[in-house]
Amino acid sequence: MQAHLVCFEPNCRAKYELTEVLYQCPRCGGLIEVDYDWQSANPAPWKQLWRERRMDNAPLNQSGVWRYREMLPFDEDTSDIVTLREGTTPLLDAPHAARYAGLDRITFKHQGFNPTGSFKDNGMTCGVSQARRLGKRVVACVSTGNTSASMAAYASAGDLRPVIFLPQGNISFGKLAQALEYGALTLQVEANFDEILALVRLVADRAGVYLLNSINPFRIEGQKTMAIEMADQLDWQVPDWVVMPGGNLGNASAFGKGFLELHKLGFIDRLPRIAVIQAAGSAPFYDYIGMPEPRTFEPVIKPETLATAIRIGNPVSWPKALSVLEQTNGVVETATEQEIADAKAVIGKAGIGCEPASAATVAGIKKLTAAGVIQRSDRVVAILTGNVLKDPDYIYRYHTNRLETPGGVPILANFGNAPQVVANDADAVIRLLRAV
Ligand code: F0G
Repeated sequence: MQAHLVCFEPNCRAKYELTEVLYQCPRCGGLIEVDYDWQSANPAPWKQLWRERRMDNAPLNQSGVWRYREMLPFDEDTSDIVTLREGTTPLLDAPHAARYAGLDRITFKHQGFNPTGSFKDNGMTCGVSQARRLGKRVVACVSTGNTSASMAAYASAGDLRPVIFLPQGNISFGKLAQALEYGALTLQVEANFDEILALVRLVADRAGVYLLNSINPFRIEGQKTMAIEMADQLDWQVPDWVVMPGGNLGNASAFGKGFLELHKLGFIDRLPRIAVIQAAGSAPFYDYIGMPEPRTFEPVIKPETLATAIRIGNPVSWPKALSVLEQTNGVVETATEQEIADAKAVIGKAGIGCEPASAATVAGIKKLTAAGVIQRSDRVVAILTGNVLKDPDYIYRYHTNRLETPGGVPILANFGNAPQVVANDADAVIRLLRAV
């Protein structure tokens, strides 16, 4: 099948070879996407094929990304693929969280079940495989933590050298620890994510390193398989809403691309509405959508949130995410620090758990149901982007009433569950247990 890199801007659409290293269009500066000539595809047998692969032990068929490789037809040669058996993440119902969010039912697609504990693995398997195909030796990314953990693992597994740039003091310890353990050269820069990304974009080409942030179009290709796998798991019945946290907005772009391609190929008969939830202190996309026309995108210069994964003020993929919202009749909402913290504890109490950024989903849904945008009876799938163990420090502080917003305002432990101290005494323990 014909595949190209194409400029995302509708009035440019310049075409480039897949082997070119491009993160933006040399002609107009627009974002780049991978585009296929789907006309020559014969998708009729694919659903069956994908189901059969789930029962197969071959590594590429066990991967929830490469199982759908007919939807990633940018190279027939699979010898460069690096897989850690990413994807194949569960759909989990949580009645307790549904009640909290004002819904009859909520389903989580939990990307925290991935090998490095976040959705980034879906994209990274693709990005690192492309780096190998291009003969690159060094790969780099700027990250709020999860991209770096994922890139470190996949690059090391694929015998490439990972170099990661982190905003000093603003990533969770769990994520930093992963980068070290997976063997990345780890550089902590005294700047925020947006500032470091601008810096790394400048130096990447000159230093000959391959950039694996989500401006890399192959990352988005891998991440779009989350939409495909979800549709497969739902027997191709699309939910009314798919809700996800938004930071750099690569994920919203990827889900949108996945659903749009499934629709085009006739796998699904309608599109879900996409809802993106941003942390209130880092919400440039929300601000933009709410602006009267003509709109201009205004970055948030000093983004703040304890959900450090989405502490991003100048999201590079906003034009792609905007197009997804327009095509899916989507919405953007914000969630405050208190709302995120409480929603997170509710998701935890459902026995599921997630990291702070992921909990923005439930916090946002609660507001959208209260506002009548999402109906109580709507079918809603929320994407939990990261594992509960990514940020244990946050959890301990919340439950022991010691969590504060970046501005120093105490966050109430409305669903707190502090550990209790008990004497080393049988009667005391029995008294306690009787009251449980
Ligand atoms: N949730 C988690 C847990 C994340 O790590 C991120 C992004 C997002 C949501 C937002 O996704 O950027 O595609 O809108 N983390 C990036 C990183 C920026 O460096 O790990 P997005």
